[in-house]
Amino acid sequence: MKRILITTAGRPDEVTETRALAAQQALGYERIARNKRSVKNLMVTNSCDLLVAGKERYELYRQTMSEPFFFHPDTAAFRLKRLLKGETDPLVEMCQLEPGNSFLDCTLGLATDSIVASFAVGATGKVKGIEADPDVAFITATGLTQFQPKFQELKDAMQRISVVHESAPTFLTGLSDDTWDVVYLDPMFSQTISESSSFAPLRQVGVHGGLTEEWVSEARRVARKRVVVKAHFNDPVFEQFGFTQIIRPNTKFHFGFIEK
Ligand SMILES: C[S@@+](CC[C@H](N)C(=O)[O-])C[C@H]1O[C@@H](n2cnc3c(N)ncnc32)[C@H](O)[C@@H]1O
Repeated sequence: MKRILITTAGRPDEVTETRALAAQQALGYERIARNKRSVKNLMVTNSCDLLVAGKERYELYRQTMSEPFFFHPDTAAFRLKRLLKGETDPLVEMCQLEPGNSFLDCTLGLATDSIVASFAVGATGKVKGIEADPDVAFITATGLTQFQPKFQELKDAMQRISVVHESAPTFLTGLSDDTWDVVYLDPMFSQTISESSSFAPLRQVGVHGGLTEEWVSEARRVARKRVVVKAHFNDPVFEQFGFTQIIRPNTKFHFGFIEK
C-alpha cells in the first residue's frame, strides 16, 4: 500500500497546523513540515502520496494523479436549485424519497447523491453515508461540515449527513431488518461514466469493485421500502441481481430498484 504523509499548505499558520494535526489523529498518518517545498518535491523525496491541510479544505495528491482529490458539492448545488424550483430529480424519484424518510448510502464518495437525498428527506429524515476508502471518508466528512456553500438549503442538507468509514457489506451485517427506508448502491463499476469530469479524481482514489451477492442480499434485508442501484446502462448488474432497470434516454447511467 502507498505511504501517505500529511503536511500543511504552502504558508503554514495556526489554522493549517491544527487541521494537519486533526487529519493525523483521524487517519494515523505521519506529519511532515512543509518547509517551503512543493507538493511534487515532497512526494518524490519521501516516495509518498500527500494529504495537504489547507485553510479551507484538505487535498489528496497521489503520484499517479494529475489533479488532487478534494471535497466539493459537485452537481448537488444545481440539483438542489432545481428541486427548490419544484422540479424533480431522478434519484429522488427513483428512491421515492419523502420528508422524514431514512436513506442509507452504501457508497458515499463525494456525497453528491447523499446531499440531494438529505435535502429531499429534510430535517425530520436521516441520511448516513458509508465509505470504504479512509481518505475519501475523511475528506468528504470534513468537507460536508466545513465547506461554505452559497445557499443555506445546501449547507443544511450537507450538515445533516453522517459519515461512517467502513466497507458497506460489513456495515450492513450489523443492522437489523427493515431499518432504513432506502438503501442506495453506487459502486465503481467497470464501465467508466464520463459524464462528470469533476468525478475523475474520485475514480482514481476510491475503492473499485462491483456488487456481490452478500452485499445485495444484506441491502434487501435492511431496506424497508427499496434498494436502489445506479450503474452504466449496459451493466449486467441489473439482470444479475434482479433490479428493475429504468431506462433514461440519453443518459449513460441508469437506476434500478428492488421493491420490498
Ligand atoms: C461511484 S462512487 C459514488 C459516488 C456518489 N454516489 C456521489 O454522489 O458522490 C463509489 C464510492 O463508493 C466507494 N466504495 C466502493 N466500494 C465500497 C464498499 N464496499 N463499501 C463502501 N464504499 C465503497 C468508493 O470508494 C467510492 O468513493
